[in-house]
Order: sequence, then structure tokens, then C-alpha cells
Amino acid sequence: MPDQNYLHLEANHDEGARDAFVLSLKLHINLGMAPGLKTVYEKRAVPAFEKVHGRPPKDRHEVRRQMLEEDYFQMWGSLWRTAQHLMWESSETKVDRQLPELNKRAKVKGRKLGSLRLDPKLEMPRYLTAVHIHGQPGGYGLDQSDDDVSAGAFYEQGMLLYGRGQGHPASGNPAQNIADFVKTTYPGLKPRKILDEGSSIGGCLPVMAKEFPGAELHAIEVSAGMVRYGHRRMEDMGLAVHFSQQNAEHTDFPDESFDLVVSNIMLHETSAAALRNIMKDCHRILRPGGVAVHLDVPLRNKDLDLYTEWYRDWSTHFNNEPFWGKLHDMDVIKPLVEAGFAREKTFDTYLKNRSGDGVWWACGAQK
Ligand SMILES: C[S@@+](CC[C@H](N)C(=O)[O-])C[C@H]1O[C@@H](n2cnc3c(N)ncnc32)[C@H](O)[C@@H]1O
Repeated sequence: MPDQNYLHLEANHDEGARDAFVLSLKLHINLGMAPGLKTVYEKRAVPAFEKVHGRPPKDRHEVRRQMLEEDYFQMWGSLWRTAQHLMWESSETKVDRQLPELNKRAKVKGRKLGSLRLDPKLEMPRYLTAVHIHGQPGGYGLDQSDDDVSAGAFYEQGMLLYGRGQGHPASGNPAQNIADFVKTTYPGLKPRKILDEGSSIGGCLPVMAKEFPGAELHAIEVSAGMVRYGHRRMEDMGLAVHFSQQNAEHTDFPDESFDLVVSNIMLHETSAAALRNIMKDCHRILRPGGVAVHLDVPLRNKDLDLYTEWYRDWSTHFNNEPFWGKLHDMDVIKPLVEAGFAREKTFDTYLKNRSGDGVWWACGAQK
């Protein structure tokens, strides 16, 4: 198992074989079969659409409705969904078999570097409970006992296969883009206190610790299973992180307590109303001169062709990510300005990976 598997879940022979099968199936679907969709789009879907409407499709929604008619798309889509279910089934088998031991192991004993604060009264917001985001079993809020870490364990196990199955290298951490953006855009900002919102099991934090040494690191997350798991994971990595189970829409931090607030792939999983609340709270908890950066998946880009925009919108309709597409149709500057940020200090931008092989999107502002 790669070293991201922090609580050291074991995969026995059959589980390892299943993981390997799921990974190759995903690679075949995403890299082997997906290019055929472009041919189907150009040679069949667009001409069929033009025949009826007398014009080419004007947006990704029209492309989707037309592609739904195509056998190749139906087969590809059904295989994609099946492979995603298999990925979670494979994680579930490993996690369930080892859960009691895992829950015990997750408890940090003795001296701690960071801390963990749970809130058993916190309600999971409806935008996270109405569907199980990208099919994770039980959803992010799965909490079967007062020491349950299964939500975090599922997430970690799923992520070991998810991105790799789409051909993304396991090494690239999107948080690096946040750090690089902050350092180049705000060279004067030397953050002493950083908050990671929607941290799940702490994906961003090693990068924040490396790039901003000495900063006090805080992480919030609505899911108890994620913060329990994340806390142990960070302690194992030797990182002092203060985790608390909180909703980013209304945190309990005092006004003006952070220099930098970040999130990585959280916004596309919230609703439009939640996004407005999150921006308001960010404005409240940032010190004057402090910066908020919310990184997310790139979907729309002025330079993107319609086909690619439709392809990237797949998860909105078929992978239980109902706000994915909506986020990119929003004017995100408006909620930032309504939250109190000066318009000229806001941003909505695309960021290139250091290696130049990937693009991310980010929005935010300086207070
Ligand atoms: C895709 S995961 C984030 C991954 C993580 N940031 C990383 O870098 O690995 C999104 C997380 O955001 C959390 N989340 C969504 N809405 C939230 C909110 N309003 N407040 C706090 N956490 C939230 C979800 O529970 C989920 O764990």
C-alpha cells in the first residue's frame, strides 16, 4: 500500500487483487474508452442535434441531453458508475473487516502535538446528507459509534484509487497550488495562523506546514469520522494541527483570528446559500490584510471547448455531486463582496500546476 495509508489498513490477498482490478478498470474506462466519446460527439451527436435544431449545441446541458441518446455514452457511463461502486465496495470490505481495531488505533494516547474537539450536537448540513457525495458509503457523516473513524478510512482508501484511476499522479497535492498562489500574489503575507476548512482527513495540511513553517494550523470539518481520523493521521506525521468538528458556515472562532483561510475541493460540495455563509464567516475570522483562498475543480474556462466542459461536468449528473456544475455557473465575486470584501481585492482565477500538466480553479479575497 502507498504511504498515504496512515492507519495502516491491511489488504489481504483478495482485497489487494480487487483493488488492482478496480484500478485497471478505471484506467481503461477513463483513458482507454473516454477518447471514443469525442468521436461519438463529433461524428454522431452534433450532426444529430443540428438536424433537429438547425444549429450546433450551445451549452453543456444541450450536449448532455444529446449524448444521453448515444449507445457508446450509455455503455461508458454505466461502466464508470459500476467501477466507482466497485471502488467503494473494495474500500468497504477492508474497512469493515478491521474497523474495531482501526477505531482503537485512531485514538491518540499520551502527549499530543495538536488537538481534537468534537461536537456531538453538530448537524450535518442537508447538502451533504441528501446524497452520498461521489458514492462514499454512508456519506461523509457516517458515524456509527463515539469513536468511529470509518468515514475517514473510506475517504482515504477511496482516494488511493480515485485520482490514479483517472490517470492523475498520486504525488501532486492541489494544496501546493494554494501555497504557490499565496506566496506569489501576496508576498508580504507571512501567515502565523492558518485555517483549513473542509479538511476531511487533512490533505492540505502537510503542504501548509511545509510552506509556512511555524504557523499555527487549524482544521475544521463537519464529519466526526474525518476529524478523528485526520487528527491521528497528522499526529503520526509529526504535525501539530488543531482539529475541530465545525461547519464552515458559522465557526466559533473569534473575529479576526486568522491570517490565511484555505479550502481544497470543499466549495463544490456545498450549496449556493452555504457558500454565501462561508464567505461571510471567512471575512469575519480574517485579520485585516488576511487572505482567503478556496481551491476547486476546474470546470469552465473561457478557453475550454464545449465538449471538454460537458465532459468535466460528468460528476454533477452521474457521480452524486449536485453542486459541482452550479458552482462554476455562479458569479462567486458577488458573495465575496456581499460578505464585506472590497471588489478590487477579490479574485476568481485558474491556476496552473508547477509541473504545468494540470489546472485548478480558485476564488477568494484579501480583507
Ligand atoms: C472533498 S473533501 C475535501 C478534501 C480535503 N480538503 C483535502 O484536501 O484532502 C470535502 C470535505 O468538506 C467537508 N465539508 C463540506 N461542507 C462543509 C462545511 N460547510 N463545513 C465544514 N466542512 C465541510 C466535507 O465533509 C468533506 O470532508
